[in-house]
Amino acid sequence: MAHNLAPTHDTSPSRLSAALDFESLGSSHLPNSSNHSSRRGAFVVGTCVVTCAVIGGVLIPFLSPAFRKIVLPYVPATDVQTRNVCSVLKGRAGQRLVDLGSGDGRLVSAAAEEGLIATGVELNYGLVLYSRLDSLRKGFWKRTNFIRRDLFKTNLSNYDVIVLFGVPSMMDLVKQKLLVEMRPDAMFVACRFPLPNVKPSAQLGSGIDTVWVYSRSDIQKSLSKA
Ligand SMILES: *[C@@H]1O[C@H](CO)[C@@H](O)[C@H](O)[C@H]1NC(C)=O
Repeated sequence: MAHNLAPTHDTSPSRLSAALDFESLGSSHLPNSSNHSSRRGAFVVGTCVVTCAVIGGVLIPFLSPAFRKIVLPYVPATDVQTRNVCSVLKGRAGQRLVDLGSGDGRLVSAAAEEGLIATGVELNYGLVLYSRLDSLRKGFWKRTNFIRRDLFKTNLSNYDVIVLFGVPSMMDLVKQKLLVEMRPDAMFVACRFPLPNVKPSAQLGSGIDTVWVYSRSDIQKSLSKA
């Protein structure tokens, strides 16, 4: 074993120094063998740059929230949260659901598994692509659809169930939008943060996994109180 590895140990230091020696790249006065290993060094450096660029291109969409007026960070739903949402979707097979800011699409796929026709709206195109591939992989692509769009530019009147993993700063705007667009029989499901000053029809779970369920009349009632 040790005998077999010996040649590799011999060549690696020169390869490493060639990779680090940018000055020697392409210089003609160097002996042939050194030039050869320089080119190999350039290849190693080039391969690293390309690899890093590809990894960065894949990861950055997951790490950086897109720039917008209200920043909705990409924080994946926990399994408990997903289960809580799924439990309020029971008996709604065939209905249309929209997840506003669908992230990696896990909730959309979970809703499709419950038999709903689920749409994910997400600004980050990397996450939209990831979601499409993931739902294809899970076998739900026929009942899922992912759109790259600002959630505030999404017409909510087309959906029976509206799901949002929100942040407190956006909830008032969402409430106004729901009052205009939500269908009378539709259900709004808020995760992580509730609608301010609105009494939900139901509440499940606790802490960050809490899920609040609202009907349109719940939201309208909150206006008459104010
Ligand atoms: C949303 O869609 C409904 C029905 O298709 C339509 O009546 C309404 O005007 C639309 N609202 C907006 C803001 O586009």
